[in-house]
Amino acid sequence: MSIPLSIKWNNNRLEILNQQKLPLEVEYITLETLEDVYDAIITLKVRGAPAIGITASYGLAATAQYYETNSLEAFHQLLSKDALYLAESRPTAVNLVWALERLRGAVQHAETVQEAKKQLLEEADSIYEEDEASCRAIGEYALSLLEGHTKVMTICNAGTIATAKYGTALAPFHLGSEKGKQFQVFACETRPVFQGARLTVWELQQSGVDVTLITDSMAAHTIGAKEIEAIIVGADRIAANGDTANKIGTLNLALLAAAYQIPFYVAAPSSTFDLSIGNGKTIQIEERPSEEITHIAGKQVAPDNTKVYNPAFDVTPAHLITAIITEKGIIYPEYDKNIVALLGTTKGEES
Ligand code: MRU
Repeated sequence: MSIPLSIKWNNNRLEILNQQKLPLEVEYITLETLEDVYDAIITLKVRGAPAIGITASYGLAATAQYYETNSLEAFHQLLSKDALYLAESRPTAVNLVWALERLRGAVQHAETVQEAKKQLLEEADSIYEEDEASCRAIGEYALSLLEGHTKVMTICNAGTIATAKYGTALAPFHLGSEKGKQFQVFACETRPVFQGARLTVWELQQSGVDVTLITDSMAAHTIGAKEIEAIIVGADRIAANGDTANKIGTLNLALLAAAYQIPFYVAAPSSTFDLSIGNGKTIQIEERPSEEITHIAGKQVAPDNTKVYNPAFDVTPAHLITAIITEKGIIYPEYDKNIVALLGTTKGEES
């Protein structure tokens, strides 16, 4: 049993697991240009907040190696333009902008273009390595919280293929598998594009975790019928008060957890916090093409010209969240005090 990887950086080549093709094909593709990187992110070939941040940072660092200038000023201008371009690929996950800003910050004091190019590659490596370490730590904390619990529900894919390795919400299951603790995971299929059915089920199977697929509309019934003990989800952006944007359908699960009085956990690295926003009201929710709803696997399932609303994320208010699991520790309410106490200031406040 092994834990799959979604991003590989080999001899200056950026390869990603093509998540569009899973689970029927396990295909790694090479991203050659900045446009390839943008396309891979917007079309969900690579997805999940940390994974898009990592991919964008390698994509930007690799592109910058070909800037034909010896002027630092021109170098910074090109870098800012390309960073802005990638940042516009998807709006909700803050990890994307966070990673690109980190790269720009890393070369702020470079004295030559050559030095800046080297620093960019080193910073992208650091982002990757730190994410793997963060996910492992999140997994350990989550395991401690889930001690005594076996039946856990999740939505979307906040797993190893959404990060450098291990994942966030799925990390305790991978680590549990390594340590001999068996969970029974119930994965919501995650309409419209089935990250739960296609990705979570596939990756947990790779790791030898017991996973059962349900449709999103079965969640309320299943929590009662199967005696689900906890729900754990990932995050795309967490505001200073704990309000959390994550895959559409997460809010439904949070409301169900409250109704059934079971814990609702959010698992995310500190790179997913946006302390520049006080609450979740201003988080931009990505709206995606209507075909994601009117068609399934290319087959039309709704009448021609159907009017569609397709928000990709929702915001769960902090009061519905039992705890937020980060690599630095577990944060409990009152989040407006405890988030800053644990994480201190972040890029949002520094800039
Ligand atoms: O649209 P997606 O598939 O990128 O949405 C992903 C999620 O909502 C994940 O839960 C989130 O990014 C956390 S991944 C560790």
